[in-house]
Amino acid sequence: MDFSTVIKDRYSCKSYDGTAPSQEQIAAVLEASRFAPTAKNLQEHHIYVCQSSEALAKIDEITPCRYNAPCVLVVAFDTAHVFTYPGGTRDSGIEDASIVCTHLVLAAQNAGLQSCWVNLFDPEKAKRALNLPDGEEVLALVDLGFASEKGRPLPNHFNRKELAETVTYL
Ligand SMILES: Cc1cc2nc3c(=O)[nH]c(=O)nc-3n(C[C@H](O)[C@H](O)[C@H](O)COP(=O)(O)O)c2cc1C
Repeated sequence: MDFSTVIKDRYSCKSYDGTAPSQEQIAAVLEASRFAPTAKNLQEHHIYVCQSSEALAKIDEITPCRYNAPCVLVVAFDTAHVFTYPGGTRDSGIEDASIVCTHLVLAAQNAGLQSCWVNLFDPEKAKRALNLPDGEEVLALVDLGFASEKGRPLPNHFNRKELAETVTYL
């Protein structure tokens, strides 16, 4: 698919029909994560693929935002392997994992899937429910699947600021 079409057609899907994506589609989405830039190329992220009924039940304990998605990617990062920027007050963990999520949602669109980036959860509760290693922090969940009849873009999807509001040439 043309790149600008992928970018423009992606939207946050909040109702899925429950049909499972193919393994090829999941593999294509995951493959895109490998090419996300990370600070110092540390690649400190880890993605958990939740597809079993047990794993999806755990997701439902964590967030109300699965929307019947048959697959949820949990994007975490290893807090012991982030890059700490000069000055020592900030590190790369959240940024790097966010770029990974961006690759995932765009690759999902390219693979014929809909997606939704979900941050409405308690990271500590998510970590406990999914039994993640101590040093990992969950950044986001990414719902994946096929839109149901009700899963069209919400009105706010079309509400885009003009570049004049968000860009300044210096
Ligand atoms: C960082 C981030 C967190 C989000 N968290 C949630 C969430 O917890 N639940 C949800 O339904 N949508 C969530 N969304 C989706 C946004 O609501 C959606 O991206 C925004 O309204 C714009 O709509 P669009 O993605 O269809 O263009 C999140 C999106 C981003 C980028």
